[in-house]
Amino acid sequence: EKAGYKHFMLKEINEQPRAVRDTTLGRVSLETGKVFLPDMKISPAEFRAATGITIAACGTSWHAGLAGKFMIERLARLPVDVDYASEYRYRDPIPSPTDIGLLITQSGETADTIAAQHELIAKGSKTLAICNVVGAAVTRLAQGTITTNAGPEIGVASTKAFTAQLTALFTFALYLAQVRGTVDDTTSLHLVTELSRVPGKIEEILRSVDDQCHELAKHFSTARDFLFLGRGIHYPIALEGALKLKEISYIHAEGYPAGEMKHGPNALIDETLPVVCIATKDPSDPSSVLKYEKTLSNIQEVTARSGRVIAIAIEGDEHIGQLVEHVIHIPQSHELLLPILEVVPLQLLAYHIAVRRGCDVDQPRNLAKSVTVE
Ligand code: M6R
Repeated sequence: EKAGYKHFMLKEINEQPRAVRDTTLGRVSLETGKVFLPDMKISPAEFRAATGITIAACGTSWHAGLAGKFMIERLARLPVDVDYASEYRYRDPIPSPTDIGLLITQSGETADTIAAQHELIAKGSKTLAICNVVGAAVTRLAQGTITTNAGPEIGVASTKAFTAQLTALFTFALYLAQVRGTVDDTTSLHLVTELSRVPGKIEEILRSVDDQCHELAKHFSTARDFLFLGRGIHYPIALEGALKLKEISYIHAEGYPAGEMKHGPNALIDETLPVVCIATKDPSDPSSVLKYEKTLSNIQEVTARSGRVIAIAIEGDEHIGQLVEHVIHIPQSHELLLPILEVVPLQLLAYHIAVRRGCDVDQPRNLAKSVTVE
């Protein structure tokens, strides 16, 4: 059942190239760059008239939603709110009837997420689901579903469902952009081509970083705390890296926006604190390069206080190796697609640390795969 892998989690991490590929299958044209979302009961005219998107989700799916905000706002120029589903209905939200609700959920059965969906519907919004289980509760209430074709996920820690959600969100953002006329054909084709290269790049990462993460686990498995830093769309990935580590290794970990460190958390840094910094860039994108440079100065603030940095950087970035103790290299990609690549080493790092600590990786204590109570 585990196909020769020691744990479902490791099997599922290794299934990500296929999960991502299957999530784009039949939805994008590599000839024209066009995106198709079939079985959508929200019309292109309604998407064109939309005034905003409200995303509600929990846990890892919420992290995907946070990254999705960057994708949708950047490509479709539509404002996006991201809420914890467990908070949404308690704040008496005020969605406009022209806002579209977007629920992101692997299981499609998370009680909080369904409660948020009921609230959105009651307040007059149409809802859309990104869900991994065909026919799940959330999809029965929604006017449209984008299925993440990740296949059944058994490990409590979500891995392949997350990268499939990011893929679905990217596809949805591009669809919205095309319907709303905020991208031209050349850009669409470029983005779809970049998307089609992601599965091969994940394969490359799986081949090249597993041993390194195994080694890093030896250094860091006894740490008491961990910090994960990122900026912009990379910040949700820092949150996800921290959640993976807490969930399966029981090490306290926090994800933080890199630029916020000097507003408080720098006080935590000492020579015992591992700090994972996402310091990738898309060299063809000036705003990405600027963010990267800012992140480098944040990294220097950590190393100046003897914090032990593990950086995630793109291949060919040799400069960063002179600044930090450890660098994990990943292939280059479009800024909005880098998150799908960045999370893979973070999953492997959490996995190897948890295994070293003798934790039950697939069934962490106190957690259930599907949370059907509010
Ligand atoms: O099935 P869902 O995506 O709605 O589940 C949401 C969260 O419970 C889930 O992502 C949880 O945070 C995972 N165990 C994280 O690995």
